[in-house]
Amino acid sequence: MTLLTVLLTLTTGASAATQVTWASVAFVNHGEKIPYLEKGPYNLTPLGATQLQNAGSVFRDRYLSPPVNGSQLTVGTPINGLNVNDIENTQLYIASLNDEYISASATAFMQGVYPPRGESGTLTMDEESLLGNGSLAQYPLNGYQYPNIETLGSLDYNSIWLGGNQGCNNYTRNMLNEIRTPSYVYKMTQYRDFYEGLQDQVFWEFNKSILNYANAYELWEYGAYKYQHSKSIYNSLLPENLNKLRNLASEQQWLFNTNTQSIGNSDNAIAGKTLAGKMFSILAHNIGTQGSANKLSVMFGSFEPMLSFFYLSSLSSRHDDFMGLPEPGSALILELFSYSTSENAAQNLSTPFPSVDDLWVRFLFRNGTGETEPIIAYPIFGRGNSEVDMSWKEFADGMADFALTDVAEWCSSCDAVNLFCEAIEGNISSNNTASTPYVTGGGRSSGVSPTVAGVIGAAVTIAAFIIAALALIFFGFRIDRREKQNPAAKNGDLGVLKRSGSGGFKGAEKLASDTDLALKGGAGATIIRHERVGSWELNNSPTSGITHSSLDKEIESGRAVSNADYGRRSEDGIGNVNPFGDPVKPVDHI
Ligand SMILES: *[C@@H]1O[C@H](CO)[C@@H](O)[C@H](O)[C@H]1NC(C)=O
Ligand SMILES: *[C@@H]1O[C@H](CO)[C@@H](O)[C@H](O)[C@H]1NC(C)=O
Ligand SMILES: *[C@@H]1O[C@H](CO)[C@@H](O)[C@H](O)[C@H]1NC(C)=O
Ligand SMILES: *[C@@H]1O[C@H](CO)[C@@H](O)[C@H](O)[C@H]1NC(C)=O
Ligand SMILES: *[C@@H]1O[C@H](CO)[C@@H](O)[C@H](O)[C@H]1NC(C)=O
Ligand SMILES: *[C@@H]1O[C@H](CO)[C@@H](O)[C@H](O)[C@H]1NC(C)=O
Ligand SMILES: *[C@@H]1O[C@H](CO)[C@@H](O)[C@H](O)[C@H]1NC(C)=O
Ligand SMILES: *[C@@H]1O[C@H](CO)[C@@H](O)[C@H](O)[C@H]1NC(C)=O
Repeated sequence: MTLLTVLLTLTTGASAATQVTWASVAFVNHGEKIPYLEKGPYNLTPLGATQLQNAGSVFRDRYLSPPVNGSQLTVGTPINGLNVNDIENTQLYIASLNDEYISASATAFMQGVYPPRGESGTLTMDEESLLGNGSLAQYPLNGYQYPNIETLGSLDYNSIWLGGNQGCNNYTRNMLNEIRTPSYVYKMTQYRDFYEGLQDQVFWEFNKSILNYANAYELWEYGAYKYQHSKSIYNSLLPENLNKLRNLASEQQWLFNTNTQSIGNSDNAIAGKTLAGKMFSILAHNIGTQGSANKLSVMFGSFEPMLSFFYLSSLSSRHDDFMGLPEPGSALILELFSYSTSENAAQNLSTPFPSVDDLWVRFLFRNGTGETEPIIAYPIFGRGNSEVDMSWKEFADGMADFALTDVAEWCSSCDAVNLFCEAIEGNISSNNTASTPYVTGGGRSSGVSPTVAGVIGAAVTIAAFIIAALALIFFGFRIDRREKQNPAAKNGDLGVLKRSGSGGFKGAEKLASDTDLALKGGAGATIIRHERVGSWELNNSPTSGITHSSLDKEIESGRAVSNADYGRRSEDGIGNVNPFGDPVKPVDHI
């Protein structure tokens, strides 16, 4: 116990003070998956699952049960009151996008945080485990513990917090515009020899036309995967070439996910804004409940929101490293804590929750899941190297500069056209369930009582399903339309691969002309192009000088049904609640 106390006494605060951690909220990158350039399905690989399980166990070391001995990747800063052995889902918020490799990552991560109870030898002899005849009932698989993972499909507006770039039309448009700028085209020329030169070593399955800088990320992902799994590519691909593939992919994705593009007024860091908004709201909710809710919150997605967040929070201005693609299983963390001088305060359940003025926040990052990869604290918002810890107020001020917490704002800033945006804007319900007062004002601050709002929300949801179903019927819902194994292999011009919003690979897009596209379905999704879709999908889709007919015409089908609850507003960011105001709003005490 004394060793623990020493560990807890951090270098930052006064030497006698102990850190009491109240909450931690993290965004975790998924693990290694089947690359987009493979056929799919794009599952999480066994290696990927192991990476995430490792990430989870490092969280366990830091926030639940610091190891007494052994290599310390991180100091233990246990979260006050967080269950150590038995999972208690009311203390947690675990959310994932619904791509298989992401939700599987979430599950693997949680296996590391709460390993099977039989493994730690901590079988609980409570009433629910004991049987009347005296024997002990164990959960299957040696006491496997069941996390409650919220899995968010693209029809659920809560998915924007985890992947705000997905379904964001302006984001995609800007990306396609950028690829056509002279500076980008110049780079494509500059790197052509490099990419084409790797055809014999790595990319022999592909037509030369897709080996270019516009596909930097997909090519890097493929190369890294093959380097890991294929003996011949492991032998033929030189490490420096692998490195260069990575660096070019980093450079490209930095351009796509930050506002450093050469085309004007783009907002490509949108995913960082929504992520920041959600992370902030979660910490504020923990404060509002005096530390009882959201003790540990982990969200799972892809790297794009991370890069955007690094950019927005000025991390990258001090540390170039943040401009590089984060490793699989890497974690971006915000920690809420206070200091106490009383002994054992960190894990003493009677330690009083401090006032807002005594709360601190710090940013941490763990870049991957290597054996020796530590969790490192970095200063954000351009603060000095010694100013890693911020007061809650400084933190709130910094986040308020860019965090986005209102779904309607996301819809308009993205120029997004989807069901929940339509519902928020009030257009969807106008032709059905005639009696709903939801039509005007989008239900926002319209004085509708919560109960009524709930009923309306349900009606809107049902309407949304009906419309979605009709749309799928009218505009062709096809399960399997793969024309060729090898995307972009058939035609001339430069092939540009485009991943779907949710990360699935969508097919090739050619720069010069739009006809005769080779198509390939994403993870479970079918892509339909060159078929005009209805106005609800792309209502007045603007064209910005350059036309992107293929983008505008595609719809993605085959996605999971959402259980979005459009009636619930106050907590999830729809509505006029200002989360940067007073965070203390004591609700749902446990
Ligand atoms: C921790 O390390 C010390 C010294 O190396 C050793 O004496 C002690 O037994 C170890 N404790 C555990 C629990 O492994
Ligand atoms: C007690 O009951 C359980 C479930 O009914 C059964 O599986 C177990 O064998 C019983 N144990 C004894 C000692 O009878
Ligand atoms: C994470 O690791 C990758 C690969 O080594 C590197 O490119 C990137 O810059 C690193 N990011 C940070 C923040 O250290
Ligand atoms: C826990 O905190 C309470 C209130 O601060 C204090 O009275 C008590 O002695 C503490 N318990 C331990 C074991 O330190
Ligand atoms: C979104 O795109 C449209 C059309 O290109 C443009 O008019 C609008 O200004 C963009 N919005 C933002 C916030 O960039
Ligand atoms: C519906 O959409 C149109 C644009 O298509 C917009 O002008 C209008 O404000 C939206 N909201 C309502 C309630 O009609
Ligand atoms: C509602 O229905 C009318 C006529 O049936 C149609 O003209 C109008 O476009 C519809 N509005 C929406 C928002 O679907
Ligand atoms: C590869 O693309 C070129 C045009 O860039 C085309 O002429 C050729 O037929 C394609 N090769 C294969 C094998 O598809």
